[in-house]
Amino acid sequence: MDELRSNVRRMLNNQDNIRIVGEARNGREAIDLVKELQPHVVLMDINMPEVDGLKAAEILAKDFPNVQTVIMSIQGEQEYFRRAMKAGAKDFLVKPFSTNDLVDTIQNVFNKWVKDRPELFANEPKADVLSFFSTKGGVGRTTLAVNLAVSLTSKGKKVLLIDASLQFGDVAITLNQPAKKTIYNLVENGDEITLGEIEKNIIKHECGLDLLLAPKEPAFAEAVKSEHILKIVETVQTMYNYIIFDLPPNVTEKELAILDRSNMVFLVATLEISSLKNTKICLKTFGDINFDLSKIKLILNKEIPNVGFGKEDLEAGLSIPVYATVPMESEIAQRSLNHGEAFVLKSPTSAIARSIIGMADRLVGPATVVDTGKSAILKIKDLLFGS
Ligand SMILES: Nc1ncnc2c1ncn2[C@@H]1O[C@H](COP(=O)(O)OP(=O)(O)OP(=O)(O)O)[C@@H](O)[C@H]1O
Ligand SMILES: [Mg+2]
Repeated sequence: MDELRSNVRRMLNNQDNIRIVGEARNGREAIDLVKELQPHVVLMDINMPEVDGLKAAEILAKDFPNVQTVIMSIQGEQEYFRRAMKAGAKDFLVKPFSTNDLVDTIQNVFNKWVKDRPELFANEPKADVLSFFSTKGGVGRTTLAVNLAVSLTSKGKKVLLIDASLQFGDVAITLNQPAKKTIYNLVENGDEITLGEIEKNIIKHECGLDLLLAPKEPAFAEAVKSEHILKIVETVQTMYNYIIFDLPPNVTEKELAILDRSNMVFLVATLEISSLKNTKICLKTFGDINFDLSKIKLILNKEIPNVGFGKEDLEAGLSIPVYATVPMESEIAQRSLNHGEAFVLKSPTSAIARSIIGMADRLVGPATVVDTGKSAILKIKDLLFGS
């Protein structure tokens, strides 16, 4: 039925992760198209002319083991479903179904298939994981993480910013976002963390940046474990160019797990003697636990002249070079925070914004400015069949 196909097409139209790559009117056409298009998922109505859904599912399962078939049928055809599953279909949908049912079924079938075949995605580009860390509060981790994330987004990169400052996360307020959905919603029921669940709990900022916010109350922070966070990264890593963490100033197992998973750790320090002292202790601790120190990029934030010591003293005191310097510009920083607007967009020519845009330029590099947008899970191919 053309109507079923157009309904399904309408339901899937706005799904970022699902792309309809073809449509067929009967089982015979379906099999020919699968041969040509090699989709990940096939939606197949049970009642089709020529070769019916059951027969087609059986042929697909035998000849195309990497193609996952979902059978659609109306109530009362349970017996068919049983036979369909036996014939090699991976799931079924009872008509009429909701958009949510449809999307969840497609994603679950696909995710199950992917899970057992990591080698298929071994060559997919994975997000660089960047963390903003310090052992002293208030040095500007959130300010830098948010503005770098926005800046990378405005350069056409897909970026996920995760507020891992789980007790008192400030990302939501810094970008004026209501924390309607947070990372806590992903773990509160103890269910498996799936791509579908993560996507439901991501907040989309108007600039294109994706956000996974910290729990609304500190009491919920404990529920989010390092395994959860690592699972989130693993699940979405092929969907983003960058995953950025805003971390709290603690060195517990949770922060260490994220730092370990990071490709770059932006260690933020300021020209205050307490920051120098704590950063030094932090570096010593990292050395003691054999942390890969080459990942650490020292960021001097709130640089200001004539305060008793400068960049060279910081480098000498910590025995590592400063990777980037961000000047003190209190008015712009504070106004941007209070208005919930990133200064890299609001005041892009200010010195503070330029320094962060410069960091983004350096990360992106000249060779990768053109985004091929090739990430795999974003491109779940879905072949739509109906009667
Ligand atoms: N380069 C800068 N120039 C002037 N002010 C800055 C700069 N960077 C950050 N600030 C200000 O410093 C304060 C602390 O910044 P921010 O909240 O980003 O730090 P944090 O390290 O995330 O703190 P917390 O420990 O609370 O998480 C804010 O008022 C912010 O506007
Ligand atoms: Mg912060």
